[in-house]
Amino acid sequence: MSSYDADPTSFDPFAEITAANPYRPADMTYNDYLKVPELLQLQALKSQPPHHDEMLFIVIHQAYELWFKLILHEVEKALGLMQRRQILPARHFLHRVGEIMKLLVQQIHILETMTPADFLQFRDRLEPASGFQSVQFREVEFAMGLKDERYLRMFNNRPDLRAVLERRLNEPDLRSAYYELLRQEGFDLPDDVTIAGLAENPAAAAQLLAALKIIYQNPIQHLPLYVLSESLVDLDEQLNLWRYHHVRVVERIIGHKMGTGGSTGIGYLQKTTVKRCFPYLWQVRSELTKGALTEVF
Ligand code: HEM
Repeated sequence: MSSYDADPTSFDPFAEITAANPYRPADMTYNDYLKVPELLQLQALKSQPPHHDEMLFIVIHQAYELWFKLILHEVEKALGLMQRRQILPARHFLHRVGEIMKLLVQQIHILETMTPADFLQFRDRLEPASGFQSVQFREVEFAMGLKDERYLRMFNNRPDLRAVLERRLNEPDLRSAYYELLRQEGFDLPDDVTIAGLAENPAAAAQLLAALKIIYQNPIQHLPLYVLSESLVDLDEQLNLWRYHHVRVVERIIGHKMGTGGSTGIGYLQKTTVKRCFPYLWQVRSELTKGALTEVF
C-alpha cells in the first residue's frame, strides 16, 4: 500500500485536541474577533434577478479596498519612521507595502474569468459608480506623493469624502518625506523639490540627481538609504504595473466603451500609466558610470 492510500477515517482531528470542548461559551471566537458574519453581510447584489458574476465583481473590489486600507496604515507608519530618521524600520514597512501591491497586480486578472457578455448583464446597475471614485485609491496616490488636487473636484457633491482627500493632500507623503530624510542625512538638495518646482528648474533637478547618484553609485556605502530608495522604487513599479494590468483587463472586458465613471475609458486609463511617484529615482540609473563604484569589501 502506498502512503497515498491512507484511510481518511484513520485521522481523528479530535485526537489532536486535548480538551473535549476547548472553547467556553464566553471565549472570543474567530468569527467574533474578525466580525466575519458582519463582513459576509456586505455583498449586496444590485442585479435583478441576481447575476452570478456580480458576487465576483463586488468581492474583488471589496478585497482591494481592504488592502488599500492596510497600505495606508503601513505607509503612515513608514512616514513616521522616516521623519524620525529610522531608515531601516521605515524600509521594513515599505517592503510589506510592496508585497501587498504585488498581490494587487495579480488579483485584477481574476476578473478575466468573467465574460464581456456576462458583465453587460449587470454593468448598467453600477452607473455612475466607478473605481474612479475610490477615495482610498486616491489616498494611496496622494500618500505616495502623487498629489493631483484636480481629483478633489470629483467629490464636490460629497463634502465628507472631499474632506478625507483634502486631509491627505495636506499631510506629508513618501516623496516629500524621502527628500527631507536625505537632507537630514547631509545630502545637498535644492530648496524646492516639488514636482512642479523641479520641472521648472533644470539646475535644481540636476542637483537632486547628483545627490541620488552618490547613493546609487556607491550602494554598499549608503546601504540603509539605498534599500529604502529601492523600496520606494518597488512601490512605484508595482503601482505602475497595476495600472497596466488594470487597463488590459478593462480593454478585454469592455473594449473601448466609455467608463461608468464618465471617462473615455481605455483612453483615460492609458494616459495614467505615465505617472511616476519617484521619477528621479528612475532617472538616476541613466546617470551612473562604470568606474566610480567604491569597493568596500
Ligand atoms: C470589470 C472590471 C473593471 C472594469 C471594466 C473597470 C473599468 C474602469 C474604467 C473604464 C475606469 C476609468 C474611469 C471611468 O470612466 O469609469 C476605471 C478606473 C479605475 N478603476 Fe476600474 N475597472 C474594473 C475593475 C476594477 C477593479 C477590480 C478595481 C480595484 C479597485 C478598479 C479600480 C479602479 C480605479 C482605482 C480607477 C481609477 C484609476 C485612475 O484614475 O487612475 N477597477 N476602471
